[in-house]
Amino acid sequence: MSKRDLLDLSALSAEEIEKLIRRALYYKIGLLTPEESSLLRGDSVGLLFEKPSTRTRVSFEAAIVKLGGHPIFLLPNDLQIKRGETIADTARVLSGYCRALVIRTFDQKNLEAWASSATIPIINGLSDLCHPCQALTDLLTIFERHEKFAGLTLAYIGDGNNMANSLMEAGAIVGMNVTVAAPKGREPNFDWEKKVRSIAEKSGSIIRIVNDPVEVATDADILYTDVWVSMGDKANELSISLEANRHEFSRYQINSDIVRLAKPNPLVMHCLPAHRGEEITDDVMNENASTIFEQAKNRLPMHQAILEWLLVK
Ligand code: CP
Ligand code: NVA
Repeated sequence: MSKRDLLDLSALSAEEIEKLIRRALYYKIGLLTPEESSLLRGDSVGLLFEKPSTRTRVSFEAAIVKLGGHPIFLLPNDLQIKRGETIADTARVLSGYCRALVIRTFDQKNLEAWASSATIPIINGLSDLCHPCQALTDLLTIFERHEKFAGLTLAYIGDGNNMANSLMEAGAIVGMNVTVAAPKGREPNFDWEKKVRSIAEKSGSIIRIVNDPVEVATDADILYTDVWVSMGDKANELSISLEANRHEFSRYQINSDIVRLAKPNPLVMHCLPAHRGEEITDDVMNENASTIFEQAKNRLPMHQAILEWLLVK
């Protein structure tokens, strides 16, 4: 069997995602067999991060240790890549030392380059385009509450960024409706939307992109938001520094008025880090802290499940 990568969610079927969730729930209990806790014994997993990270880095490192392995954290400035060594050559070399590589990068194309030259699994730890590990964890958090996906509607309110993309893709695969409300000009990427729609045709889920946050919040089961400006998104950072654009973004906030529009007791989610007072108010964040911090905690068992899925044939 050839090696697997996790560059986006297209590598996964609904059945495989369900299995990952069940394995993550198992890992969350923390009672590992000797075989499971030595899955990576004597082996290393590299983590190459071009951008800051708290959750992805630390939860992957912890997951690798729980599976008996050794994480090696790499910064691009410390590698010969900085001096012009190609991704292809570096990928070949690191494949000789590590069982897998987790990569956080500015450009999804870099991940594809890593994956095509490495002989070990490449895991997307966030790119400009998507954040599959976070979305898989979010499905786990949703499943813990609802024990199903069909018939649920997740309303994403905010910038049409990597998180919006991965949530649409996740919903389309598992059969959950995802409605995105983003400011004009900040809607999710058109090619991505097209790809997601063709996946949704098979599962029957509804994927919609609009500009009105009130419309998507109304009767939603789940409200989700993320930062208005993603790491490395210079164009949006510049645009939002203008008062008029910032004012427009201020409509895309999860606040108590938006929460009241959703179904009773909605799941309010945020991938974190949060900019309290921007995309989510302090009071909504505090009222929903048990969900949001559980969502962050769930990264650890989901990463154990992902590593197992990629490494156990
Ligand atoms: N949610 C998430 O990926 O957080 P970090 O940027 O801290 O890894
Ligand atoms: N959209 C955010 C997600 C951070 C986890 C970013 O890319 O910065």
